[in-house]
Amino acid sequence: MNILVLGGAGYIGSHTVKELIKAGNSVVVADSLTTGHRKAVDSRAKYYEGDIRDGAFLDKDFTEEKIDVVMHFCAYSLVGESVTNPLKYYNNNIGGAITLLEKMQEHGIKKIVFSSTAATYGEPERVPIVETDPTVPTNPYGETKLAMEKMFKWASEAYGIEYVSLRYFNACGADETASIGEDHGPETHLIPLILQVPLGKREFISIFGTDYATHDGTCIRDYIHVTDLAQAHILAADYLMHGGKSDIFNLGNGVGFSVKEVIETARKVTGHAIPAKESERRAGDPAQLIASSEKAKKILGWKPEHDSLEEIIASAWAWHKNNPDGFED
Ligand code: NAD
Ligand code: UFG
Repeated sequence: MNILVLGGAGYIGSHTVKELIKAGNSVVVADSLTTGHRKAVDSRAKYYEGDIRDGAFLDKDFTEEKIDVVMHFCAYSLVGESVTNPLKYYNNNIGGAITLLEKMQEHGIKKIVFSSTAATYGEPERVPIVETDPTVPTNPYGETKLAMEKMFKWASEAYGIEYVSLRYFNACGADETASIGEDHGPETHLIPLILQVPLGKREFISIFGTDYATHDGTCIRDYIHVTDLAQAHILAADYLMHGGKSDIFNLGNGVGFSVKEVIETARKVTGHAIPAKESERRAGDPAQLIASSEKAKKILGWKPEHDSLEEIIASAWAWHKNNPDGFED
């Protein structure tokens, strides 16, 4: 397949580019490098630098390249920042999707796989969450992703653009070579923050809230390896190429771990004591997010291969230990 990866210099995008190339696909990456890293992009991929809100930039990509499927990872995705600066999120996440759909329609490109999120559900009524459960986002980030899904749905009906929306739960881990991994600035995700302690970059990890209605009082999340997410994108593209209809899929392991359990596993993996301090809840955090991914397993044939938390954290630790300053750009 010929795949255009928008946001391919970012964390999940760069891992997907690598897996796509490994599987024999031809890959073109377009990225603004706002949060991504040029060094994260596999050297075998063709690369364009620009912003997807710029129609002329997309015209160039779509004219110069033959594209079967677009994979769309571009977004701002800091939940806290989305609450204090919502318009930045509406502008990039929704603005980007509008220009992209307009240009796909103009250039006759009819297939797209894009990044959605568990944040579309908000505080779930039950776990594991299935795709038909209520979507009531508790922050502007989740709202923009839900709005994108709806925009894709209507565009699909009007223009025949078939889409797969992948609702990831908590992406984590790193490629087995430890040559690419997570490098966000600022970092807000739990696992890389925990690993900053054994790296000597942070004295302790804060536990945001210990009074949730969970077995140990801390929030429970479904941690899913980034390479398993990458594989789901390849399967989704295959599904569309074989005539699959527009649809939405959860991607998680179906098992939840509390913040305290994640810290304890990181202690085991790194051999470091990793001091932790209990602190206030972080605004907008649901107590529990656990996916049912039965639909992705059944329809896409997806099977997460890295479902042990220990393995996930070990892969992240290998990346951070080898690259304590990330991509250093
Ligand atoms: P990331 O910030 O590492 O990657 C996003 C990439 O898109 C970056 O390389 C950035 O430079 C690029 N980009 C952003 N806006 C752009 C624009 N207008 N034009 C061109 N390039 C642009 O983020 P990530 O963690 O890899 O997440 C990828 C996607 O997955 C996002 O859409 C995010 O909302 C979604 N998601 C992430 C998680 C997670 O746990 N990391 C969970 C659920 C959903
Ligand atoms: N946490 C801490 N201390 C920290 C950082 C995080 O206790 O220093 C806690 C959070 O409160 C939360 C859990 O660890 O309970 C996980 O937090 P992350 O920030 O790593 O991840 P989130 O669950 O908040 O969000 C991530 C993505 C979203 C996505 C969501 C879906 O950033 O895009 O997963 O589950 F929507």
